[in-house]
Amino acid sequence: MKTTVNDVEIAYRDEGTGLPFIFLHAFPMNQRMWDEQLEALKPHCRVITLDLRGFGESQSPNSSYSLEDMASDVRALMKHLSIDRAVIAGLSMGGYIAMAFYRNYPDAVRALVLSDTRTVSDTDEGRSRRFLSAQKAAQEGPAAIARDMVPVLLGPTSLKERPDVVERVTRIAESNPSRGIAAAQRAMAGRPDSTSLMSEARIPVLLIRGSEDALSPPSEMEAMQKNIPAATLKIIDRAGHLSNLEQPDLFNAALLEFVTALN
Ligand code: MLT
Repeated sequence: MKTTVNDVEIAYRDEGTGLPFIFLHAFPMNQRMWDEQLEALKPHCRVITLDLRGFGESQSPNSSYSLEDMASDVRALMKHLSIDRAVIAGLSMGGYIAMAFYRNYPDAVRALVLSDTRTVSDTDEGRSRRFLSAQKAAQEGPAAIARDMVPVLLGPTSLKERPDVVERVTRIAESNPSRGIAAAQRAMAGRPDSTSLMSEARIPVLLIRGSEDALSPPSEMEAMQKNIPAATLKIIDRAGHLSNLEQPDLFNAALLEFVTALN
């Protein structure tokens, strides 16, 4: 399905009934990365997935934008769907957007799931890498970004034993428009630090990390667990950064346990 929010056409799926659960995808992915979570959760919840602006089948605006603008799209989509409050679940970039959402619309958040992500903002070096990657996306296209990213998005187990997962992630990454990839890199470079925001969060927070995630080191997610008052940390074995699609059964079990506790 598609709707226009904030002048941008957004593609989304809305299935199941009950507690609304909104999934925000990683970079440079799109909503297809949540296929297994949609299937597993829809008998228990109302599951919404979307292609964030600039990804998948959603529009890529010409102008630049921030992660807050992407969070505002999510809020507008909720209004369109008559949803007041939801569990917001984000992985990596999706986690940054989930925190931007919580900063701006705390009353619309029932709980957060933050997977393979971090509260800290980028170092200067990290920001420079993003600007180079944005330039590369514009000059060489999405396949070049997929070639750079897939070997670090997936853990060694998936890279060695799961050619189907490698193929799927590559296909998703290659399907995103260069303009959206470049804009998202610039938006991530500009994100603020959310450490103090999250230290004051008074909602349930589930943290999930793939045991082989090289992009979100254990020290960062352990620090998040200590910093966020009502946080639980689950480690997904034999999964890298895209823990939800590398080990969907373990990831879904963690989500279902969390949903049961919320209900
Ligand atoms: C992601 O998976 O969304 C990216 O690794 C996030 C990032 O580049 O910080």
